[in-house]
Amino acid sequence: EKRKMVHELCQQLILTDEQIRELNYRILHEIKRGLNKDTHAKADVKCFTTYVQDLPNGNERGKFLALDLGGTNFRVLLIHLKEEHDFQMESRIYAIPQHIMIGTGQQLFDHIAECLASFMSEHNVYKERLPLGFTFSFPLQQLGLTRGVLSTWTKGFNCSGVVGEDVVQLLKDAIARRGDVQIEICAILNDTTGTLMSCAWKNHNCKIGLIVGTGSNACYVERVEECELFEGADNGKSHMLINTEWGALGNNGMLNFLRTEFDDEIDRHSINPGRQLFEKMISGMYMGELVRLVIVKLVKAGILFKGQDSDVLMTRGQFFTKYVSEIEADEPGNFTNCRMVLDELGLNDATDEDCANVRYVCECVSKRAAHLVSCGIATLINKMDEKHLTVGVDGSVYRFHPKFHSLMVEKITELIKPDISFDLMLSEDGSGRGAALVAAVACREDNIKT
Ligand code: BG6
Ligand code: GLC
Repeated sequence: EKRKMVHELCQQLILTDEQIRELNYRILHEIKRGLNKDTHAKADVKCFTTYVQDLPNGNERGKFLALDLGGTNFRVLLIHLKEEHDFQMESRIYAIPQHIMIGTGQQLFDHIAECLASFMSEHNVYKERLPLGFTFSFPLQQLGLTRGVLSTWTKGFNCSGVVGEDVVQLLKDAIARRGDVQIEICAILNDTTGTLMSCAWKNHNCKIGLIVGTGSNACYVERVEECELFEGADNGKSHMLINTEWGALGNNGMLNFLRTEFDDEIDRHSINPGRQLFEKMISGMYMGELVRLVIVKLVKAGILFKGQDSDVLMTRGQFFTKYVSEIEADEPGNFTNCRMVLDELGLNDATDEDCANVRYVCECVSKRAAHLVSCGIATLINKMDEKHLTVGVDGSVYRFHPKFHSLMVEKITELIKPDISFDLMLSEDGSGRGAALVAAVACREDNIKT
């Protein structure tokens, strides 16, 4: 009986085939609006030009620095590209304290420059002038490989004085303020671009880069004729990597036919209400909280835990997204992880029935996320219309959720044209190597020019 009530409440989280078809259509429509110069300004999905037009050819060599900002961890990396497919990478994670994430832009970039300088000194490259690739995982209106204006912050960041500014310049200024280290910023790129490049280095079929992590986004290889906002289209190159920024889908209301009371609540309490609505239904920054909201509703209705809540359960953000992965990693009928999580939440007299119901809620939320992402990927694959295509994927949700990969494979297969095949490739070395590759390609071009 209780089970039935849980299933009833969760029904709104299950996407019907018809809804998915409609979503497919809307995503494609928005991508086209983003690419088109007359509709770009109003489009949800901006389809930003990345200025990356060449995939790696395996001849990239040299020593590079990289910064990786915008995922779970801020990292500084030193990458040495050697023989074909041989490389060395050292990296270090630095914390970005909460007050900096929502402080001033100057504080943020000073902090980044300080971490960079201390990394360089630790790795004995303090005196060198190395090329640097900056993975900056936010929506950027790029004006070239080394110029990018932040259009809006997303995820947990909201630093003042950065929107509308060239982020590369802000980093250069911060480095100049210190005056101790010298670097050459060769490229600024999105994490999806880094992921694609990093996978394309080993696999030439890789033409889509996907992130399902703190945020969600995808980039893909587009024909240059379609990229109306790119002004250098006569440079002889046939393709351009497009950063879709699909997380913003829904800003104009077009996801309202799918959104639930829980999505509304997540949005209302976020630091960017009304924005990134697609991302908020998918990514790791919100998934745990979505589950928590459903559970709270079930407790209040007396359906779970005999109506008993706990302080932790009632606190926003305290149901971590990793709990969803842990709970779903239990074998069927076994609730070991589930009980561990409930213990942490201060809910220690859950029955087996409670556990099964909590698990069902997790499954509905994560499956919906996987289906939404799949819908986006299938739209891109169908649009690109190649025989075989590899999607490079990164991000904590994709990496750690036990079923995300197979849910995606199943759904994408269902949604793409029958004569196309695809695979999903985990990006192993993250965008550190991707950033180095973009920087390497950029330097290569520079060398040719000079
Ligand atoms: C990392 C990449 O592996 O994944 C980052 O190096 C990327 O560039 C990140 O932003 C995304 O995942 P998450 O879960 O850390 O947001
Ligand atoms: C957010 C950012 C986007 C990034 C994604 C994944 O959607 O706006 O640039 O790629 O998160 O990190």
